[in-house]
Amino acid sequence: MKILVIGSGGREHALVWKIAQSPLVTKVYCAPGNPGIGRIAENVEIKVDDLPALLGFAKREGIDLTVVGPELPLSLGIVDLFEEYGLRIFGARRNAALIEASKAFSKDLMKKYGIPTAAYEVFTEVEPAVAFIDRVGAPIVVKADGLAAGKGVIIAATRDEAVAAVTEMLAGNAFGAAGSRVVIEEFLTGEEASFLAFTDGKNIIPLASAQDHKAVFDGDRGPNTGGMGAYSPAPVVTSAIHEKAMAEVLRRTVDGMAAEGRPYRGVLYAGLMIDGDSVKTLEFNARFGDPECQPLLMRMKSDIVPVLLAVAEGDLSGVEIEWHDKAAVCVVLASEGYPGDYRKGDEIFGLEEAARIEELFVFHAGTAATDGRIVTSGGRVLGVTALGDTVQDAIDRAYRGVAAISWEGVHYRRDIGRKALGR
Ligand code: AMP
Ligand code: GLY
Repeated sequence: MKILVIGSGGREHALVWKIAQSPLVTKVYCAPGNPGIGRIAENVEIKVDDLPALLGFAKREGIDLTVVGPELPLSLGIVDLFEEYGLRIFGARRNAALIEASKAFSKDLMKKYGIPTAAYEVFTEVEPAVAFIDRVGAPIVVKADGLAAGKGVIIAATRDEAVAAVTEMLAGNAFGAAGSRVVIEEFLTGEEASFLAFTDGKNIIPLASAQDHKAVFDGDRGPNTGGMGAYSPAPVVTSAIHEKAMAEVLRRTVDGMAAEGRPYRGVLYAGLMIDGDSVKTLEFNARFGDPECQPLLMRMKSDIVPVLLAVAEGDLSGVEIEWHDKAAVCVVLASEGYPGDYRKGDEIFGLEEAARIEELFVFHAGTAATDGRIVTSGGRVLGVTALGDTVQDAIDRAYRGVAAISWEGVHYRRDIGRKALGR
């Protein structure tokens, strides 16, 4: 079977790595891929938003299954397009991917179907938004409605910060169309977890639990990023919390989407805030989380390809997923300055040495190859991901890999996984 993966980050490297291990697979392509992916698959120079070129490639090469990594092609309707031409594809259709592409849509869905979430209101004008902020008070959370590459959420500690964020989003144009509507919501406290599940629109198969580290600095300080590291399993997701999330969040969402005429097929990612026995939904994503995907796929014992095929064909009944008992930890190595402006083009050293460590894999995200050298080319550059018998073992192993790798201006958190140890 020939498989095409779309995307170029650590998530897609992990997907390609896992898919390539399947005995069902003869060839894996990745568009556009990255130098790490290029070692185990064939990179194809097509951008993730060039839908006609991706379709043409899949038809020409006789691709049996296309797997979509990032949200952009989903929200552009790649799944609808491929299905129109009778091609098998894993991912949410455009009208279902709206669950990530519009925060106002997903909040309204949550309200309508009783999915627990922070109290909120949606605004298109500055004046009523400010009145709302004055009524609720700070801290308060301001979110641009549309896709903003992880930068559209402002946790405002003061009223003035919230007013500034709303004004910038609605009156300025820093967020383009994504900021023409804002969601303003209650600030929640607790510990976050990433709850992912495969669904065919009816059946739901949860993945193992995971936790991301969004803030750029140790101790969850500094601005939020796409994720500076992740681990699985996440002890904060006890079996009681798991049951509650399945019943109150995943089940209601999948059923609600079906009732709305937007059947959800693919992987559904719920960002949860857990506080004692309370579970609230922060957001939905229509894709695998990155970096969560890296530790999750390292822990997945079953072949992923039959699962992806079953979702693409719309029937997950009878499918089961086995997980390794081991823990997995991913430490993201980023470029200095990320998530703001960052340097690019620095040569990366020590990749071979890290590769010699057992049960450790270095997934590439923002790398490029120039005259035989691997250099940095993005904010998040590598995901050093390791297994261990315990979380502590996995942490130790991952940081051994991190210690082997260097470049000028490398930045990473030193406390990935520490929260899991506290439990
Ligand atoms: P989102 O993209 O909506 O998940 O927001 C990004 C991040 O902002 C989340 O992972 C949380 O860390 C934080 N966040 C979002 N909404 C809230 C909220 N209502 N209360 C506290 N933190 C939040
Ligand atoms: N790591 C968070 C995300 O993928 O959205």
